[in-house]
Amino acid sequence: MMMTMVRTAAGGGGGGARVANTAVIVAANRLFSTAGRGGVAAAAAARGIGNEVGVGGPNKLGYWIRASMIDGGRSESTMALSSEKEKNNEEKKKIGSSSESVGNKENSNDKGIIASYWGINPSKITKEDGTEWKWNCFRPWETYKADLNIDLKKHHAPVTFLDKMAYWTVKSLRFPTDLFFQRRYGCRAMMLETVAAVPGMVGGMLLHCKSLRRFEHSGGWIKALLEEAENERMHLMTFMEVAKPKWYERALVIAVQGVFFNAYFLGYLVSPKFAHRMVGYLEEEAIHSYTEFLKELDKGNIENVPAPAIAIDYWQLPPDSTLRDVVMVVRADEAHHRDVNHFASDVHYQGRELRETDAPIGYH
Ligand SMILES: [Fe+2]
Ligand SMILES: [Fe+2]
Repeated sequence: MMMTMVRTAAGGGGGGARVANTAVIVAANRLFSTAGRGGVAAAAAARGIGNEVGVGGPNKLGYWIRASMIDGGRSESTMALSSEKEKNNEEKKKIGSSSESVGNKENSNDKGIIASYWGINPSKITKEDGTEWKWNCFRPWETYKADLNIDLKKHHAPVTFLDKMAYWTVKSLRFPTDLFFQRRYGCRAMMLETVAAVPGMVGGMLLHCKSLRRFEHSGGWIKALLEEAENERMHLMTFMEVAKPKWYERALVIAVQGVFFNAYFLGYLVSPKFAHRMVGYLEEEAIHSYTEFLKELDKGNIENVPAPAIAIDYWQLPPDSTLRDVVMVVRADEAHHRDVNHFASDVHYQGRELRETDAPIGYH
């Protein structure tokens, strides 16, 4: 509707452009009234439209709006910013000098323009030593020192039929995994993390939906499970730095994810106590795998390279840490996941719901 108004008004020349300015400014103020800043930005953008369509000189926002809305609608808003690079480069040159007017003095790139338009400016965070914080996927206050004193030997002895089924499901999965990776523990760790990060997300998502359906709190379990998923994904982001997946390994991950996500989703719906128990055993296996990884590092069969920068920041490791230190903290994380999942399964075994117990939020 806004586009129609602009085009019609613009057809009338200078007077039309003024009408367009007014009409779109009013519309923009209404449509973007969620925040004062957004309203101002929208109004400014609307002025840009009027100028561009009518008689005035283009400004930064005007160009962006023209590309994204007038030239073809919503779907082009990203296309204009990604595929039409030449056009963008031209526009960047034109708008470079006025980049401060949209409130982001340092980013005159497209990302900066979008962020400013919506009133969202990228935050600039520095470390304690004053250097720039370079990770967007986690923030300094989300980092932690791993608890290396956790008991790695704890094991839940399978008693019930469901326990035994969970235990033997995991054990049977180990055979093809051992066969495929053999002693390539770096690669094995990376690949297994692509699977390990799924259950927390699925469980968290299902509890989230349950909370919505039943109009009830989750007792913090949504957060706890999503934290686990995020922690596992950070393991993957770390191992990616030391082991690059080959094309057939990437293909395998896609296939495994397709099967495992759906299987775990259904499994969790049918029996959350089975699902959590199985993850508990998976984590026990992960502890074993990382112990083997450490042995190979100690024997010198795997080079103990410097720890990736992302790991040093995420686990607050000393700057001279090595891969061995990283494997130690990751293994400690797995032991915590083991506890959380066996605990969750035990809660269900007692005929209670997770929300009735305090969720282990921040349990690393
Ligand atoms: Fe992991
Ligand atoms: Fe884990």
